[in-house]
Amino acid sequence: MFDFDENIDRRGTQSLKWDKYRDRDILPLWVADTDFRSPPAVMDALKQRVEHGIFGYSRPSPRLIQLIIDRMANRYGWEIKAEWLLFMPGVVPGLNFACRAWSQPHKNIITPKPVYYPFLHAPEYNDRTVVYLPMQLDDNDRWLPDFEQLEALAENADLLLLCHPHNPGGTVYNRNELERIADIAQRHNLIVCSDEIHCDLLLDPQAKHIPFASINSDAAQRSAVLMAPSKTFNIAGLCCSFAIIPNPQLRQKLQHAMRGLMADNNLLGFIAAEAAYAEGDEWLTAQLDYLRENRDLVRRELNQLAGVHVAKIEATYLAWIDVSALQLDDPILFFEQAGVGLSPGAQFGDRHFVRLNFGCPRPLLREALTRMKNALQSR
Ligand SMILES: Cc1ncc(COP(=O)(O)O)c(C=O)c1O
Repeated sequence: MFDFDENIDRRGTQSLKWDKYRDRDILPLWVADTDFRSPPAVMDALKQRVEHGIFGYSRPSPRLIQLIIDRMANRYGWEIKAEWLLFMPGVVPGLNFACRAWSQPHKNIITPKPVYYPFLHAPEYNDRTVVYLPMQLDDNDRWLPDFEQLEALAENADLLLLCHPHNPGGTVYNRNELERIADIAQRHNLIVCSDEIHCDLLLDPQAKHIPFASINSDAAQRSAVLMAPSKTFNIAGLCCSFAIIPNPQLRQKLQHAMRGLMADNNLLGFIAAEAAYAEGDEWLTAQLDYLRENRDLVRRELNQLAGVHVAKIEATYLAWIDVSALQLDDPILFFEQAGVGLSPGAQFGDRHFVRLNFGCPRPLLREALTRMKNALQSR
């Protein structure tokens, strides 16, 4: 019913992803948006709203707020209240304001590493000290934080930035793991800011997303959950995200930190979010089926190559590829010369990796994998 194989030309559409290699034969599989058209309901709602012709300052509709409340209840059994919600144009500003609002200058902020790069910089941008929580592969080929290290780092920290599901690596933390984090947070009085932007993109049928704040009543009072429809429905350019913060003091501190600095949301982002949450789930299920096959293809093809390893990817459309054994001087340049544009692992905190975005039509993905394979085999 939805054609994810369709090759939609994104050149000349102000796409960050596609403009990077505008005049070169390099397939762009880097920044995290997909090459899929958003659900038909989203496009219809946007068209209808554009027809109205007036685009003044906006607020989220009561229906959007109710859709988010219902989504949390239906998907996670999490009963949230309308007043817990704060809308923001992006999740990244939320992470930055969290550092400003919830951490003291004499304390550290813990961030996993490797991780989506704004986590690495948000503390420093806000005059705070960052300490790194190493992510490592467990016996099951899943990326997990070093929990002992977390315990040690928590001594001098007051804020943990959690990426759940984790980017890159795609780990969906299970209840046990979340409880372990929540327990450490409770004993060391850490606030947890949980970026859950990828929560709808679960590829493993047995993986189940659990919002950090829903784990127990203590976690609820010491955390914020950041979510958005942007990755799920490919509407990142419309800038609509939200924080769910049960604790009124944390909410107030965040609002205080944001005063005068946080822009209003984009009206069209509200419209798209509402349509996506109201009518996009059938499309989402089809997209997940498609992404799951793309993921399997990526792992199958790349794991056959000597010196390359892609661990399990439970969620996201991002493959975190270990190329350390290849000993490439500059992995990004090597793959660009092969005609494939990837994200540098160094940006996320490990230069021995590259990240590949498989949120694209399968013919394009196949072509990219063939180029990578040929380049490696003819080295
Ligand atoms: C974990 C994570 N958080 C946040 C973002 C971006 O969020 P936003 O565009 O809403 O600032 C991304 C985009 O790749 C991401 O992977």
